[in-house]
Amino acid sequence: MNCIHFDEIDSTNKYLKDNFETLENFTFVSTDYQSSGKGRENRVWLSKKFENLLFSILIKDKLLLKKFNVLSIGTATLIARFLELKGLKNVSVKWPNDVYVNDKKICGILLEGNVDKFLAIGVGLNVNQTLFDGDYRVNPTSMKTELKEDVNLESLEVELFEFIFKHINQKLFTKKTYDFLNSHNYLLNKKVKAGNITGIVNGITKEFELLIGDVPINSLEILIL
Ligand code: BTN
Repeated sequence: MNCIHFDEIDSTNKYLKDNFETLENFTFVSTDYQSSGKGRENRVWLSKKFENLLFSILIKDKLLLKKFNVLSIGTATLIARFLELKGLKNVSVKWPNDVYVNDKKICGILLEGNVDKFLAIGVGLNVNQTLFDGDYRVNPTSMKTELKEDVNLESLEVELFEFIFKHINQKLFTKKTYDFLNSHNYLLNKKVKAGNITGIVNGITKEFELLIGDVPINSLEILIL
């Protein structure tokens, strides 16, 4: 594992996209503040300075690149497991890439890159921020809001990077993750729309697709109805 930290940067995902050729597989790049943090669907990712974890992981390993369609959900599952280990209750994974606690979003993941060469897994985890005064599509929460105590950001970062580094391999895409997802599926039994498919979420398949009715979905934005 190689770690790089910036006091401030436009976006850690962009840094990896600009520099992937010279950086090694499993480079973790983190920052205290992003001036141009990117969310999914061209949204912005807002995060107050020194309050949260903002980082991206560079993936160049050929076998992991082949798992590009399940890398987001795999990483979201790891973060949800980590948050449970840290004592958070009611943690769930919102397929395909968010982590929720008590119906609020605590972590978002943005996967970018070119599957033939590299992927940047960008993670924004709300840690000590308790005032969210921007424009949020879903209600945000943070570890501090849920645990009702301050979290040491530096040691959390070290622990989380080690946890991800230890578990982000082919074994991640096996039964343990499948079982965790099915017991922590935020969308379970909710009515959703994905493209032109509308229905009730019945679970997650062994291939980590979302099951809407009996239709497996693997790459669309999900709207809760
Ligand atoms: C989402 O919309 O839920 C995804 C948010 C991803 C935010 C992270 S923060 C670190 C990395 N750099 C970015 O610009 N975005 C991701």
